[in-house]
Amino acid sequence: MRILIKNISHLFTPDLRAGYGKIIDKKNVHLLIHDGKIEKIFEFHDSTPEVDQVINASGKAVLPGFIDAHTHPVFWKTREDEFVMRIQGKSYEEIAAAGGGIRNSVRKFREAEKEAIKKVTRRRIRSFLEYGVTTIEAKSGYGLSTVDEIKSLEIINELNEEQPLEMIPTFLGAHEIPDEYRNDRQAYVELVCSEMIPLVAERKLARYCDVFCEKGVFTADESRRILTTAQKYGLKARIHADELAPFGGAELAAEIGAVTADHLVQTSEAGIKAMAEKGVIPVLLPGTTFFLGKDKYAPARKMIDAGCEVAISTDFNPGSSTTQNIQLIWTIAALKLKMLPEELLWASTYIPAKSLSSEDRIGAIEPGKQADLVILDIPNLNYLPYHYGMNHTFMTIKKGVVVFTRSG
Ligand code: NIG
Ligand code: FE
Repeated sequence: MRILIKNISHLFTPDLRAGYGKIIDKKNVHLLIHDGKIEKIFEFHDSTPEVDQVINASGKAVLPGFIDAHTHPVFWKTREDEFVMRIQGKSYEEIAAAGGGIRNSVRKFREAEKEAIKKVTRRRIRSFLEYGVTTIEAKSGYGLSTVDEIKSLEIINELNEEQPLEMIPTFLGAHEIPDEYRNDRQAYVELVCSEMIPLVAERKLARYCDVFCEKGVFTADESRRILTTAQKYGLKARIHADELAPFGGAELAAEIGAVTADHLVQTSEAGIKAMAEKGVIPVLLPGTTFFLGKDKYAPARKMIDAGCEVAISTDFNPGSSTTQNIQLIWTIAALKLKMLPEELLWASTYIPAKSLSSEDRIGAIEPGKQADLVILDIPNLNYLPYHYGMNHTFMTIKKGVVVFTRSG
């Protein structure tokens, strides 16, 4: 099967030789896809080969499909009532401490049948493809019991097989202390370490393990124990760190060799330095800061200046960030993290691919790489975060197959 994307006005891809924030902008080219892979990029005056399908990208831009390296898509009910409570002055932390938040989602998740949750999850992950996202990292974390965490990871793995969006699973059994362990948190940590992690690893249900390391949730010591146990079982570490209060999460990520540290709104200078030295990837989630109505954003420029390769993500979840629109995250990251469009391209393609150990296959447009592409109806790259709140996707292509086309 050969597909030709012809008359591309701009082909934007990270310049892997030049490094973070440097991009290649090829003007007026065609791109040939052969059996799901990028075969070649060539000039308008070259002769065009015989193909099975032609896509006209005149006036449009082709980018690597976006990669969202931090999502929580497997949940049952939404939490718009808590959103209104926040408008009325309650904080996210207060709602959580009173038994809402993640624990609210957990109670509902446990009551629902696996097939019903799978059905709503299938529908909501379809939106990622519509926004040009071709791969997501997907976390469990609304089960918080062995059976319910397995249920969540099974949904991710099964959906990965039956629809085009690629989902890379992360075990997040340590998302919160569930209701029944509030008076014995050590017993829950023990359950995660001695029962859940070994089972998840044995059944190969996840590639990564994550912990919500935060004041009022898991301490740095508990997080260290959970993540180093996971590492012994072959799961690599990611960590929700320093979102609401400085808590040593970035330092812990560097100490144990976590692949990513995520959120990082309150991270210290020492934490930034440690991440840069150890090559921990900061995954920044400015949509969450925005949606929680907070004013302080992650110090992205300090991280980039220190030599960190920053990624951005939606953090899609029912509580603190409800959008699947990575293009909107570009705008918030531009305005609030002061990241430039060229950096945002890296931050939403190649770096998240690297954080998922998949950069040899996805995250850039090069001959031999998988044909995961998005065609955007934009005249230049600056236009993408500038015309905000829109969906600029004209077409999404996963493994050389058209999986979304804008109608009209
Ligand atoms: O990344 N921080 C922890 N987890 C999510 C929130 C989950 C929820 O509120 O349901 C986050 O923000
Ligand atoms: Fe999260």
